[in-house]
Amino acid sequence: MASSLEQSTVARPVSGEPTMNAADAALPRHPRLRASRWPARLDLLQSLSGLLLALFLIAHMFFVSSILISPQAFHTIARFFEGAAFLAEPRPWIVSCVVGVVMALFMLHAWLALRKFPASFRQYRIFIEHKEQLRHSETGLWWIQLWTGFALFFLASVHLFGMLTQPELIGPYESADRIWTGNMWPIYLLLLFAVEIHGGIGLYRLALKWGWLQGADPLAGRRRLRIARTCFSLFFLGLGLVTLLAYVQLGIAHADRAGERYVPHKASSRLAEHGRPGGLEFALSRRPGE
Ligand code: HEM
Repeated sequence: MASSLEQSTVARPVSGEPTMNAADAALPRHPRLRASRWPARLDLLQSLSGLLLALFLIAHMFFVSSILISPQAFHTIARFFEGAAFLAEPRPWIVSCVVGVVMALFMLHAWLALRKFPASFRQYRIFIEHKEQLRHSETGLWWIQLWTGFALFFLASVHLFGMLTQPELIGPYESADRIWTGNMWPIYLLLLFAVEIHGGIGLYRLALKWGWLQGADPLAGRRRLRIARTCFSLFFLGLGLVTLLAYVQLGIAHADRAGERYVPHKASSRLAEHGRPGGLEFALSRRPGE
């Protein structure tokens, strides 16, 4: 029996039409059957959204860890993101807008990742069997990324919703009270591990995929990338744990006054002495209405 390809106009060109070569003839003619570029585009979008989130998180960890310098340093940075340097008074809704953008990026990245989750128990079993047969480290990493990504759906959503709806409650006492008296520290601890492991593996896989930092010898390049991945995750886990501990300590010390807002010492003492002071330092650290 003749195959559908043999019966098609591709196999039997009409006389007068240019003859196709074998490769062209093998391509399906129906538009819906032609190879789509969309999987590649979506893959690129997933890489790009992941890279932007990773860069955001690197900056975010440094901002949040300013509490290690002093409560005043963190307060100043928090007010800076509310526009204190260039507006008449800080506007917490600016932070909500930034959170909205990060949330949109996060949702896009998660939605794109969903395409690759096993969609049924059968697919799940097949993947596990392959993983056990192959014992391939990169496949194992992909599996870790899938589960840490799954955990982030829940953990990061809780955190982002809090930042979106209560941007004015970002400050040394406010954050420490949320973490300790508000019992958020277990969520932050899990979130920290999930995001640093997920981000480290994600950046490593991005570098492998797009050939960054590979050098002439691919094996040596991969070894270098593995070391960079481990250093990245360890550094940010270490920084995050020390930072979380600082918030917990401050939260315990402040527990009997939980809910009281942080008032910069310099600003409050100067206010008491001379009324409202001027200057960039005060402008950066004051709150709406202060
Ligand atoms: C614009 C969006 C974001 C803002 C404004 C923000 C702000 C903050 C702030 C102020 C803290 C200190 C604790 C607190 O006040 O509750 C914090 C901690 C933390 N955030 Fe975010 N965050 C954002 C997005 C994210 C995202 C997308 C992730 C991860 C997916 C994340 C992961 C964490 C972690 C793990 C901690 C604990 C830090 C530590 O233990 O050192 N944040 N964030």
